[in-house]
Amino acid sequence: MNELDQLVDGACAAFAVAPTPAELENAKARYLGKSGQVTELLKALASLPPDEKKLRGARINEAKQQIEAALQQRRQALADAELQAQLRAEALDVTLPGRQRGVGSVHPVSRTIERIESIFASMGFDVADGPEIETDWMNFTALNNPANHPARSMQDTFYVDMKDADGMWYCLRTHTSPMQVRYARAHAERHAGAATMPEIRVIAPGRTYRVDSDATHSPMFHQCEGLWIGENVSFKDLKAVFTDFCRRFFESDDLQLRFRPSFFPFTEPSAEIDIAFSSGPLQGKWLEVAGSGQVHPNVVRNYGLDPERYIGFAFGMGPDRLTMLRYGVSDLRLFFEGDLRFLSQFR
Ligand code: DAH
Repeated sequence: MNELDQLVDGACAAFAVAPTPAELENAKARYLGKSGQVTELLKALASLPPDEKKLRGARINEAKQQIEAALQQRRQALADAELQAQLRAEALDVTLPGRQRGVGSVHPVSRTIERIESIFASMGFDVADGPEIETDWMNFTALNNPANHPARSMQDTFYVDMKDADGMWYCLRTHTSPMQVRYARAHAERHAGAATMPEIRVIAPGRTYRVDSDATHSPMFHQCEGLWIGENVSFKDLKAVFTDFCRRFFESDDLQLRFRPSFFPFTEPSAEIDIAFSSGPLQGKWLEVAGSGQVHPNVVRNYGLDPERYIGFAFGMGPDRLTMLRYGVSDLRLFFEGDLRFLSQFR
C-alpha cells in the first residue's frame, strides 16, 4: 500500500470515529487544513521537476477528493443521527393512557346518612331537612330546656351575631332536635281542623355544632333526629324500630340493644341506646349510639298538639359515630380534614 493510500485510509478511519460534528471538523483540519497533511504534500510539489510534479499532483488530488468524499459522507451521517435522536426525544407515544380526572366518591358520613335514610324510609319515615342557624326558641325553649340550662352557655353553643324576633341571639343548632318541632308544627298546621291527623314519622339528618374538639368531638358534627308521634305509639315501638334499624345498619341479626335510663329535658322517660356486637373486634362491648325517649308533654304542646291525645317517641343518633363503628375509624377528625388519602379508601 503506498503512502497516499495510507493517508486516505487514515483520514477515513479518523472521520469514522469522530463522534460529533465538532470533532469531525478537527479531524478534517489535520488532513485538509492550512497545514494539514494533504496541504503539506501539495506544497511540497513545488520543489519537483515539471513532469514528476504533474503525475504526483494528479495522484495527490485524487487522494484529496477521496478524503473530501469521506468527510462529506460522515458529515451527513452525523447530521442524520442527530435528527433521529431529536425525533426520538420528542416522540409522542399516542398509545399512553391519557391523564385522567380524579374520580370522586360519596363521603363516608354522607354514605352513612344515605343508609340511615333508606332504612327508615323503608319503615315509612319521611326525611326532613332544616336550618343550621336556629332560633333560641326552637333549639332550646320548645324542647323544654329551662331558661338557665347550661347547654345554652357560650362555652357550649356557637352564637350568631344577630337577634331573632324574640330578641334572642340566633345560634348554630346544637342538635337536630329542633327539627322535631319544625316538622311537627308544620304537620299539625297542615292537618288542623281535620278529625284525625296522620301519624308523624320522620327522620331529620344534618350538621350540628358545639364548642368542642378532640379525637371524638368535632365543632361541626352530624346528628340524625327521629320522631314518631300518633295516638297509640309506645316505647315498645321505639324498641322495635330502633332494634330493626341497628341490625340492618350493621348487617348483624344478633346485635344486642340496651335501653339505659337517662335524662333529656325533652323526653320522659329517657334512655340512652347502647349496642353490642356479637363478633368482631368490638364484640361484647356496650357502645352508646343514640339518645331517646317518650316525648315530654310540654314538647308535644309546643308541636301545637294536645299531649292528652298525641304521644310518641324521639331519638337522636350520631351518624359520625355510626360511620366510625362501621368502618373501624378511631379519630373523628379524619372525616372532616378533607385528606383524599383517607377519603379515597371509601370509594
Ligand atoms: N338532642 C340530644 C343530644 O344532642 C339527643 C337526643 C336525645 C335526641 C334524646 C332525642 C332524644 O330526640 O329523644 O344529645
